[in-house]
Amino acid sequence: MTAIQPHGGYLVNAYQPDVNTDQIEKEIVLDLTALSDLELIGTGAYSPIQGFFNQQDYEQVVHHLRLSSGAVWSIPITLPVSSEKAEELSIGDTAKLTYEGVTYGIITISDIYEPDKTIEALNVYKTVETAHPGVKKLYDRGEVYIGGPITLIKRIERDQFSSFYYDPSETRKIFEEKGWKTIVGFQTRNPVHRAHEYIQKTALEIVDGLLLNPLVGETKKDDIPADIRMESYQVLLKNYYPQDRVFLAVFPAAMRYAGPREAIFHALVRKNYGCTHFIVGRDHAGVGNYYGTYDAQQIFSQFTKDEIGITLLFFEHSFYCTKCGNIASTKTCPHDIEDRVILSGTKVREMLKNGELPPSTFSRKEVVEVLINGLRKKAKIHS
Ligand code: ADX
Repeated sequence: MTAIQPHGGYLVNAYQPDVNTDQIEKEIVLDLTALSDLELIGTGAYSPIQGFFNQQDYEQVVHHLRLSSGAVWSIPITLPVSSEKAEELSIGDTAKLTYEGVTYGIITISDIYEPDKTIEALNVYKTVETAHPGVKKLYDRGEVYIGGPITLIKRIERDQFSSFYYDPSETRKIFEEKGWKTIVGFQTRNPVHRAHEYIQKTALEIVDGLLLNPLVGETKKDDIPADIRMESYQVLLKNYYPQDRVFLAVFPAAMRYAGPREAIFHALVRKNYGCTHFIVGRDHAGVGNYYGTYDAQQIFSQFTKDEIGITLLFFEHSFYCTKCGNIASTKTCPHDIEDRVILSGTKVREMLKNGELPPSTFSRKEVVEVLINGLRKKAKIHS
């Protein structure tokens, strides 16, 4: 069996470190989301996307969940600028893409357009409320979008967990070297608790390997910081997973909190990293009560298997049942809600901040220790 095809049929490679930008006068300053998107486009993680969305792709994705080529895509990958900045730019220009004075890439501008953010918010996030972190971000960003193909010129230098960054071409090679033919991808922005572990290991019963692929780009303030999470993943894998069947690599994108739409995006990108399977559990990439528990699973029903190309593994809400004495879901456990240990993310974060231990039925003790110590250290630094 050959490796799974990237989305759209080929892996984009737009990284050209030798491009000289000395003569380029126009400049667009990126925010952190656009900076991570630039790198992910350049390395092929967003294949077949080759640049920030032109107007046609943008409209197609917002309204029809497809690129103008017809390929499925769900999250607009946009480069917003202020109206004043847009005045300085013209179609056909090449502009440097910079962050904190450093040039990371260039864009050849094909489109300059004003999006209807209300429609974007309603279609992508299902709400216009700015209490939703993805919507807030959408409205905070510039009001004009710049579209066009990019070249990535400089990789982002990382001092934190730098050994866990792999490009899609690298993860694909690693899976091949390991002899894994089937690989399940797992997205998370949280520490891995027992329910996560349960669904990962259930998947591991039927595939060769697990790519634990935590998102470490921008997240909302009250999510557990990525450096603490990374430590917790390592201690969990070391103590509870067979070393030869798991691979930990980070996903450096920004979190959108777009629930169902983001689940599609997460699945397609993991296909580009070489995964053949992808887990979607309860309220994937959700926030607050904006999405139904299984909306992120149901959204896939409008596409054919071939259009998505990666096999989806849907999981019911899982929990520890004190009567069963194990983790289960309503598919496998007949007991009442009172027998189930269910803690919301908010509740757990509160407990951890207060130094309270969530029960071992909820989270492994080694994980809890890392989280409590990590959060304490951060609190001290900030006090
Ligand atoms: S997120 O990136 O999707 O927001 P999160 O860590 O909350 O991250 O969830 C990771 C994955 O595990 C998602 O597919 C989510 O649906 C699934 N998941 C989380 N908790 C549960 C649970 N208790 N039961 C079943 N699936 C879950």
